[in-house]
Amino acid sequence: MNKVVLLFFVIITPFAMAQKLNSPNNQLELKVGVNKIGRPYYSLLYKNKAVVETSFLGLVLKQTNTLAADFEIKNHAIKTVNEKWNPVLGEQKEITNHFNELTVELFQKTTQRKMNIVFRLFDEGLAFRYEIPAQEKLNYFVISDETTQFALTEDYKVFWIPGDYDSQEYVYNETKLSEIDVTKLDMNNGIGMKGPMAKSRIQSPVMLKSPSGMYVNIFEAAVVNYPIMHLDVDTSTFLMQSHLVPNAIGDKAYLQAPANTPWRTIMVSDDARKILASKMTLNLNEPSKIEDTSWIKPMKYVGIWWEMHVGKATWDYAGSQNAQMAQDAELKPTGKHGATTENTKKYIDFAAKHGFDGVLVEGWNVGWEDWFGNWKENVFDFVTPYPDFNVEEVKKYAQSKGVKMIMHHETSGSVANYERRLDRAFSFMKKHNYDAVKTGYVGKIIPRGEWHDGQTMVNHFNWVVERAAEYKIMVNSHESSRPTGVHRTYPNYIAAEAARGNEFNAWSIGNPPAHETILPFTRFLGGPMDYTPGIFEIKMSHYDAAKKEQVHTTLAKQLALYVTIYSPLQMAADLPENYERYPDAFQFIKDVEVDWDDTRILEAEPGDFVTIARKTKGKETWFLGAITDENPRSTEITVDFLTPGKKYKATIYQDGKDAHWEKNPKAYTIKTIEVTAKSKIKLNLAAGGGTAISFFPL
Ligand code: NOJ
Ligand code: CA
Repeated sequence: MNKVVLLFFVIITPFAMAQKLNSPNNQLELKVGVNKIGRPYYSLLYKNKAVVETSFLGLVLKQTNTLAADFEIKNHAIKTVNEKWNPVLGEQKEITNHFNELTVELFQKTTQRKMNIVFRLFDEGLAFRYEIPAQEKLNYFVISDETTQFALTEDYKVFWIPGDYDSQEYVYNETKLSEIDVTKLDMNNGIGMKGPMAKSRIQSPVMLKSPSGMYVNIFEAAVVNYPIMHLDVDTSTFLMQSHLVPNAIGDKAYLQAPANTPWRTIMVSDDARKILASKMTLNLNEPSKIEDTSWIKPMKYVGIWWEMHVGKATWDYAGSQNAQMAQDAELKPTGKHGATTENTKKYIDFAAKHGFDGVLVEGWNVGWEDWFGNWKENVFDFVTPYPDFNVEEVKKYAQSKGVKMIMHHETSGSVANYERRLDRAFSFMKKHNYDAVKTGYVGKIIPRGEWHDGQTMVNHFNWVVERAAEYKIMVNSHESSRPTGVHRTYPNYIAAEAARGNEFNAWSIGNPPAHETILPFTRFLGGPMDYTPGIFEIKMSHYDAAKKEQVHTTLAKQLALYVTIYSPLQMAADLPENYERYPDAFQFIKDVEVDWDDTRILEAEPGDFVTIARKTKGKETWFLGAITDENPRSTEITVDFLTPGKKYKATIYQDGKDAHWEKNPKAYTIKTIEVTAKSKIKLNLAAGGGTAISFFPL
C-alpha cells in the first residue's frame, strides 16, 4: 500500500439530523437519517438527479426485536481514504481505492442495542454495510431477514436472471422492471439445478438502464459468513428489497458480535464503460491474507473436457451411469473413457508444443458411474484413479514436458463428503504435483436442504480457498455462489464459473449472441470467470449429423472473448485436432495473455457490444477484443492506448465478409498491418461476431 491519505474526525450529533456525504468527484450525494419512528434510511442523487429515493435499512432478528426501527443516531464520523494497491493477478497493475466514508452509529433505545451503518461513496457508486459492534445486549444472534431497500425512481430496462437459490446458469432476460416475471420463463433450457424461486425475485449483480440513459448496477461485495443477496422487485413501484438465501431450516445467517454484513453496492454512471472499469467491488474486500503469493500464477490451459461435453468421450470409465454396475466392480471399459493416461499424454504434448501452462483432466477418478442425482453421500473419494489413469506416469510425463496438471474435484454437491476428504485430497494433489484444482458442485447440496447460495455454502467455498492456500493450491470453482471480490483477499481463488458458461452451447439451447455482452455488466463484476472460450467447431453436427446444438457466436468472436472476459485462468476449450485444422486462427489463442498491467474499456453497451484493450503484464504487447450481439456492427477505434512514437505489428482476426453466427460462423480473415498510437482501425463485426487484435512492438 502506498500514498495513503487519511482524514478522520468525529462529530457528536445530539439529535437525529440527516447526514450528507458526497463522492470525491461530487457527482454522487448521499443522505442518511432516521425517521420519526427511528427507521434508518438513505437516498442517493447522481448529478443532482434522484437514483435511489428514501429507502429503509434494517435487519430482522429471530426471536427478538428487529434492528430496523426505534433507533436514534448517536454519533457519526466521516473520513476519506485515498490509497493505491497492487493486485497479485489482475486487469491492471495498480488499483486506486478512493472514497469518502460516513459511519452512522445507531442506538436502539428500548433494547439498548448498538448498530452502525457504514457508507462509502466512491466516484462510481455507493457501498454500505451493517456493523454490529461487540456489546452486552447482543452477542449471538440469528438473522431471519435483511430489509435493505433500493427504491428506484423509474421503470428501468433491466438485465436479470431468476433468484434461484441453487444456480446462476441462466440466460439473461432483458425487460422493463415492470415486466419481470419468473413464471413466464422457459425453464426447459438445460438447467440442472432449480432451487426455489419467486415471481419477481432476481439475482444480483443486476444491471439497469434508465430511459434517460443512466446506468445503475446493484450488487454486493465481500460476502463472507453470510448468504447471497437476491432482490425482490416490486414491479409497480420499482422498489427492490434484499432477499437473503436461507439455510435448510429457513434461517438466513448466524452471527456473533462483532460482526458485519457484506457491502451492498449501487454503481451509477451515464457512461456504461465506467461500470466495467470500476474496481469498487475489489476495493471493498480485505487485502490479501496470503503473504507469499509467488506461487499464484496465471494459467492458460487445455484439457480433457470438451470431448465429454460434445459426447465424444465419457467421464465414467464404464461408459454408463449405472450405480449397480459400478458397485458390482464388473466394469468393462467401453473405449470412450476420456481420462486415460494415453489421452492425457496427447494433451500434455499439445500443451507443451503450443505453450499452454496446464492440462485439466476430468473423469480421472472413480465415482462417475454413480455421480448424478445424489443418492449417495460418498460417491467420490478424490484419491482413487480409474485403472486406465496412471497418476505417477502422468506426473512424470507432465514434469518432463514442463506442463502443470490441473486436478478436477467434482463433488456432485456432496459437500459433507468433500470436507471430510479435503485434506487427503489436497495432500494427494501435492504429492502428484498438482497446483490447481477445478471444483464442481453439480446437483443438490448434501447436507440436504442447504442451497448453493446459503451461508453454509458461502462459508464452504471460502473455506476451501483458505485451506487450499495452506497447500499452495489455486482454486477454480464451478457451480459455486458467484464471487464478490473475495479473490482480493484470497488471490489463489483464480476463477469461478458461477454463470452460464460456454458448455451450455454443447448440449442445450445454448447462450444467445447477446450473452457475452451482458456478463461483463453482471457476473464479471464479482471476479474472474472460467467461461471456457475458444470453440472453433461451432456446430455440434460436426460430431453427430443429427445434432442441432451450436455455439451462438462466430469463430472470430470466440477469439475476442479471451480479451473481453477477464480471467487469469483461461481455457482453450476445443479439441486439439480442431485447433490443428485452423492454425492461423489458433495463433491468437497462443499469443493472448491472461494477466495485465492495464485495461481500457473502449466501448460498452450492456446487451449490445463491448470493446476492450489490455496491456500484458510486464510487456509492451496489447490485445484487443470487440464483440457484438445478434446484430452486425461497424465501428472505428483509435489505438491511442499504444505507446506514442512506437510502431506495432497489429494482427487482426475478424469475421469473414459473409460470416454470421448461425449461417456461416467459421468464416474469418486475418490481416497484418503496421500501426502507431495515432492509427485508427475500422472493425466490421458480423451478426454474433467479433474481432480480436494482437499488437506486438516492432
Ligand atoms: C459442470 C461444469 O461446469 C463442467 O465444467 C464440468 O465438466 C461438469 N460439471 C462435470 O463436473
Ligand atoms: Ca457449470
